[in-house]
Amino acid sequence: MSFNTSETDRLLSTTRSVKTRLDLTREVSDELILDCIDIAEQAPTGGNQSSRRWLVVRDSETKKEIAELYREVGGEFLKEQAELLDGTGHHNEKTIKASSYLAEHLEEVPVLVLVTIYGEHDGSGRPGLFDSVIQAAWSFCLALRSRGLGSAWTTMHLGNAKRIAELLDIPEGVTQIVLLPVAHTIGNDFSSVSRDPAREITWFEKWGKTTRKPTNGLAAFQDGPGLTVETDIKATPRQLWDLISDINISSNFSNEFEGAEWLDDDPQEGARFKGRNKNEKLGEWEVTCHVTAYEPNKVFAWAVGDLEKPAATWEFQLTPLAGATRLRFAMVLGPGSSGLTRAIEQSPDLEKKIVSNRQKTQHVNMRKTVQGIKELAEKN
Ligand SMILES: Cc1cc2nc3c(=O)[nH]c(=O)nc-3n(C[C@H](O)[C@H](O)[C@H](O)COP(=O)(O)O)c2cc1C
Repeated sequence: MSFNTSETDRLLSTTRSVKTRLDLTREVSDELILDCIDIAEQAPTGGNQSSRRWLVVRDSETKKEIAELYREVGGEFLKEQAELLDGTGHHNEKTIKASSYLAEHLEEVPVLVLVTIYGEHDGSGRPGLFDSVIQAAWSFCLALRSRGLGSAWTTMHLGNAKRIAELLDIPEGVTQIVLLPVAHTIGNDFSSVSRDPAREITWFEKWGKTTRKPTNGLAAFQDGPGLTVETDIKATPRQLWDLISDINISSNFSNEFEGAEWLDDDPQEGARFKGRNKNEKLGEWEVTCHVTAYEPNKVFAWAVGDLEKPAATWEFQLTPLAGATRLRFAMVLGPGSSGLTRAIEQSPDLEKKIVSNRQKTQHVNMRKTVQGIKELAEKN
């Protein structure tokens, strides 16, 4: 019998980290917890060994001690951050406030479930160690959600893992993975959240290779073949913005253009710049590029040639991380004509191969660009 995918998809996409909507007043039975563990234990396990162990804590004194050890690691920090972000509309305001609330109320949650596994990560690569536990812990969360209960994936306690082990008599050689505070949820109306779309984070056949349309194999030109190169750089988005929005710096590393100059006074969405280069086949050539996105410290994108039917589109994107910024450089070929389309016209039978070769060369150039920007930024 097949599944009702609208229900299973709803379960999979609305199982949130519940922190402020845990019902602290309602008991949770061992029976419910054990049912959920039985289901979770169906998750794969390396070597088919049973190495996961679940620790269910409901004694109020023990929960209080766990909560104190949890808060000792980051409780103050969360509290400060929550106050700092209050009312700012910062993208993390809600998460930090909820995390701070949970830290403050951890001992009041009816049940704390600590998921552990026999073994330590010793780099041996043996199966049955803690790589076998996360999938089961997540299944447990899904099983809870489908029964009107909720939890939040928490790991802050791991900063005090040794003392937690002493408190709970956990033997040496056992690794704690996640602490799941479990309660009935207040209401049931949890939603899916915004995450990167699959097409932006999925590569086909080789690292970084993308297509706009599904291809089930090598991409043809009309499929919108592209490439994405990413790297994490120890610099702020602001510092990187100066480099990526400088059209001479960013195009030079890859030899995409030998030089570039703005055709409009203000670099902004809708502005144009001209890139020039030369090669054996075409001699010297120039092309006009149209800026399609210009959000300082975030995104700079442009279309090459005809705005409606560009030869290619390019995009730099900056995402702040803790202590670094992720630089993402993405390109999609077509749908307009270019040297590539001319090559395809000459040898239509080889279209997919020609496209793939172009992606390969482009990958090298784009990596050079990103590497060049990284070196410049980290030198400063
Ligand atoms: C590896 C990992 C560790 C986490 N540790 C904590 C934690 O210690 N405390 C906490 O309140 N939330 C923790 N979270 C929960 C995240 O804050 C939460 O997943 C994130 O805000 C996204 O919310 P969502 O799960 O509802 O999509 C952790 C999540 C993951 C994946």
